[in-house]
Amino acid sequence: MTMHAVSAVSGELHDTEVPAPEPQAHDLLVRVEAVSVNPVDVKTLRAAHPDPRILGFDAAGTVVAVGPEVSRFTVGDAVYYCGDYTRPGANADLHAVDERLVGHKPASLSFAEAAAMPLTTLTAAEALFDHLGAGPSTTGTLLVVGASGGVGSILVQLARRLTGLRVIGTASRPESREWVAGLGAHEVVDHRDLGATVRAVAPDGVDAIISAYTDVPVLADLLRPWGHLVAIDGSHHDVGPLKPGSQTFHWEYVFARPAHRMPDMARQGDLLEQVSGELDAGRLRGTATRFIPGLTASGLREAYEAVGSGRMLGKLVVHR
Ligand SMILES: NC(=O)c1ccc[n+]([C@@H]2O[C@H](COP(=O)([O-])OP(=O)(O)OC[C@H]3O[C@@H](n4cnc5c(N)ncnc54)[C@H](OP(=O)(O)O)[C@@H]3O)[C@@H](O)[C@H]2O)c1
Repeated sequence: MTMHAVSAVSGELHDTEVPAPEPQAHDLLVRVEAVSVNPVDVKTLRAAHPDPRILGFDAAGTVVAVGPEVSRFTVGDAVYYCGDYTRPGANADLHAVDERLVGHKPASLSFAEAAAMPLTTLTAAEALFDHLGAGPSTTGTLLVVGASGGVGSILVQLARRLTGLRVIGTASRPESREWVAGLGAHEVVDHRDLGATVRAVAPDGVDAIISAYTDVPVLADLLRPWGHLVAIDGSHHDVGPLKPGSQTFHWEYVFARPAHRMPDMARQGDLLEQVSGELDAGRLRGTATRFIPGLTASGLREAYEAVGSGRMLGKLVVHR
C-alpha cells in the first residue's frame, strides 16, 4: 500500500507517494490528523541532506493498527506524541510510532491543538522533573530563557502549576511579554540585557535555569552557588565558568530516550498521559497559536518559514 507524504530533499519539501509503514512489535500505526512544526524540523530541512527524508516530530491522530506486542492502545484510540528522530517523521497520511512514546490525546483538545504539545512538553518536563528533580514541594527561583517560544510556553505553566518555584521568564517584545505573563510567570524580563534585567528582580541570583538560548558565562553569573543549569540549546557551552560556584550543567535532549532505546523510554508516554490529564482538568492550557490547513508541501513550507523566523509565540500547527 502507498500513501501521501511530504519528503525533504536537499532543503526542499515535495509531495510524494511512498510505501505505507508496517508497524513493528511495539508500534502503533497512526492516521495523522495534525502535526506541529518545531525548530528541529526547520534545522533538519536547512541542513539540505540529499537523501529523501520525512520530517514531522509532533503529531496527533487515530490508531488504525497495532503491532503484536502493543498493550496500552487499541484501534480507534486518539493519540498524541513526538516520536523518535531516528525514524521517519509524521508529515504523512500514516505514521508508525513506538507505543511507549505515546499518550492518549487530551479529550478537551482538538487533534490540531493536541499536536502542538508533545515535543515541547516532553522537553520541558524532562528538564524540570527529571534533570532538576522539581516537584510540588520545590521552592526557590527558576529562570526560563526563551519563555515565549514553544518550550517556554509549556515550561512556565508546568513550573507554576506543578511546583512551588517562583518563575522568571524572558521575552523581548510587548506581545511576547504579555504572552509570558499570561502563562503565569511571576516576572518577565528582557533577554537582550539578561544580566541586568534578572538582577533587577532577583538581586541574589536564581536557583535554577532552563535555557533554550544558553550562554554559560552569562548564566553562571546569575546562578547561585550549587545551582543547576539545564541547556536545551544555545551556543556557548564551555562549563568552566560553573566551577567557582560548584554549579551543575545538564543537557536536555528530548530524543535521547527513544534514540538510545533507553530502558525507561516509557517515561515519555507516562509524561504525556499526565499532561493530558492536567489539560483536561484545566490546570494547563494548550499552547497552539497558529493553524495552517493542508498537510502538504505547500502548507508545511509556510509553516517552516514562520517557525524559522525565531519569533513564534507558542506553537504552529499544520492540519488536514
Ligand atoms: N534539546 C532539545 O531536546 C530541544 C527541544 C526543543 C527545542 N529545542 C531547541 O530550543 C530552542 C527553542 O525552541 P522553541 O520551540 O521554544 O523555539 P521557538 O518557539 O522558535 O522560540 C521562539 C521564541 O524564542 C525567543 N528568543 C529568540 N531569541 C532569543 C534569545 N537569544 N534569548 C531568549 N529568547 C529568545 C523569542 O522571544 P522574543 O520574541 O520575546 O524575543 C521567540 O518568541 C530551539 O533552538 C530548539 O531547536 C531543543
